[in-house]
Amino acid sequence: MMRLSFSLLFLALTSLAALCLPAHAEDAPALYTVVDGYKVDPNTMTGFRTWRQAACDRCHGANQEGLVGPSLVNSLKTLTKQEFVTTVTNGRLEKGMQSFGTSKTVMDNIDALYAYLKGRSDGAITRAKVEPLPQ
Ligand code: HEC
Repeated sequence: MMRLSFSLLFLALTSLAALCLPAHAEDAPALYTVVDGYKVDPNTMTGFRTWRQAACDRCHGANQEGLVGPSLVNSLKTLTKQEFVTTVTNGRLEKGMQSFGTSKTVMDNIDALYAYLKGRSDGAITRAKVEPLPQ
């Protein structure tokens, strides 16, 4: 009898979770949208342009795979968004990572920059040079 009610409870909870999860996924707007690995939404496009303008590629490589700075494809698999923002804003001057806190371009577009780099890190954006999704 106990076992039966536990499994019923479990069943009830899992179906509740199944009902709730997709709803939550819709609540949170997607960080980026990508089609064919390189056609992206306007926000992600802004992130790519910011990456280019700030010339992060000088140190992190044109494909974000690392040069004198580490591979951001790898880093963003574990770095939290907050750690990303803090690192880009303050830099790690003693370790050769520049500070972008005074760069208006970077600070105004930090969320877009994160979205683009996260898409690269997730493997969803399969090439560094992206293009706008046809509207
Ligand atoms: C002058 C070279 C240089 C430039 C330009 C540069 N970086 Fe870096 N960056 C580095 C180095 C070197 C490190 C590694 C610091 C360390 O060892 O902790 C780093 C670290 C980072 C990290 C942390 C990685 C980790 O695994 O903890 C992030 C995120 C990052 N850079 C993002 C950027 C972004 C975004 C830009 C452009 C807006 C940029 N960097 C421009 C050199 C640079």
